[in-house]
Amino acid sequence: MKSFPSETAGSTLALHGGEPLLTATMPHFTWPPPVEGLAGKLASYVDSGLPLSIVGRSGVFEELEDRLAALMKVRYAILMSSGTMGLYSAFFALDLCPGDEVISTVYSFHATTTPLLHLGVRIVFCDVEPDTGNIDPEKIEALITDRTKAIVTNHMWGHPVDCRAIRALCHRHGLAWVEDCSHAHFARYEGEFVGGFGDVSVFSLQGNKLLTGGEGGVLLTDSEEIHDRATLLGHSLKRSEQCVKNPRWKEILRTGFGLKFRMHPLAAVMVLHLLNNCCFDWIRQRGETLDYFTRKLEETGFVRGMARRRYVTSMGAHYGFKPRIDFRRLGVAKEWLVAALQAEGLDVDLPGSPPFHRLPIFTDPGFQVGDFVKQTIDPEAFPGADSYYAGIVSLPTFTFPSDRPLIDAYVAAFQKLFHHLQERPR
Ligand SMILES: Cc1ncc(COP(=O)(O)O)c(C=O)c1O
Repeated sequence: MKSFPSETAGSTLALHGGEPLLTATMPHFTWPPPVEGLAGKLASYVDSGLPLSIVGRSGVFEELEDRLAALMKVRYAILMSSGTMGLYSAFFALDLCPGDEVISTVYSFHATTTPLLHLGVRIVFCDVEPDTGNIDPEKIEALITDRTKAIVTNHMWGHPVDCRAIRALCHRHGLAWVEDCSHAHFARYEGEFVGGFGDVSVFSLQGNKLLTGGEGGVLLTDSEEIHDRATLLGHSLKRSEQCVKNPRWKEILRTGFGLKFRMHPLAAVMVLHLLNNCCFDWIRQRGETLDYFTRKLEETGFVRGMARRRYVTSMGAHYGFKPRIDFRRLGVAKEWLVAALQAEGLDVDLPGSPPFHRLPIFTDPGFQVGDFVKQTIDPEAFPGADSYYAGIVSLPTFTFPSDRPLIDAYVAAFQKLFHHLQERPR
């Protein structure tokens, strides 16, 4: 066992009335950081009188979509008002109908799956790997029936799912794969960026994401059919007339399928600026900083870094930092540890998104959404998700070398707590 810095390790816990270790102002992590040149870019777009609503595929939309499609090696990119609407468009584009079944990861941010509620399909949850929190490919096959049409996954916190296994499974069973990449911009599976493995992929570009427009999203696909249906759903009139070529849709180009999911052009200006100037540098710095944080936490002897399977070549945007703690070995509840760390002044929390089988929106008939039939779900049916969720804590996604003194203070607070726990009478 490591020794602890004597001046902090032995002192009374802040939870028990001692001095908190950290007095730095909260929050300790905000995103995005100040970006050189961004305000000027936005002002000059407005001052030049460029359109504040882009109705076709032109200007900054065209430039950004072309960049993203080229990076992900797909034919089509469609900017969206949000990741959620991108996911809804993806599911709609697959022509899913009531009675169809979609296999969904049971653990993610809810928007990976909630758009399906509005299509009335049956959602079949699949358990996740207890170490990564990603859908467990070995548990998918047993859930496939003759009604299964698609699988939806999320690359949790930036850790790619097992893309080769899922691709093979979809191929074998004729299923479509919706790849939610909202946590994993430019993460790499065996060297390839995620986002090009699924039949359709979606990235949120919301304000907390490494690559962001404040609000926004993008849908990517190689399929003309998916492109056409997604365009018609949320981008009618000029954009549909310009981009939807299949004569089958001729009569519906004007109205499309009646909704509107267009991005704000200033969001696109921002995303393009970050993509051209900061994004890949931020990814490198975040990777190095979180490696340092992980190493320091692991030295305490009670924390394990996030799991990383051999096929992961990069965690890319690495949306969340969720190290693992063996609470049973430590002999305290997670809630106690989090409260004690918070009392020491740390910006630490319980992870915000419980597994889906524990969320009323999927299970409680009191909160009806369209024709979706709520299911009674055995609360013990997803041991992988429960075990993953029970073992992680949520820490700031520190990104820059300037965060290192704060990281060192966080580690000292963990050491103080662990020292206290070891010393207490059993
Ligand atoms: C995994 C995942 N999917 C989808 C979304 C929804 O994206 P948006 O907030 O842009 O609608 C988020 C947002 O955080 C997310 O984390």
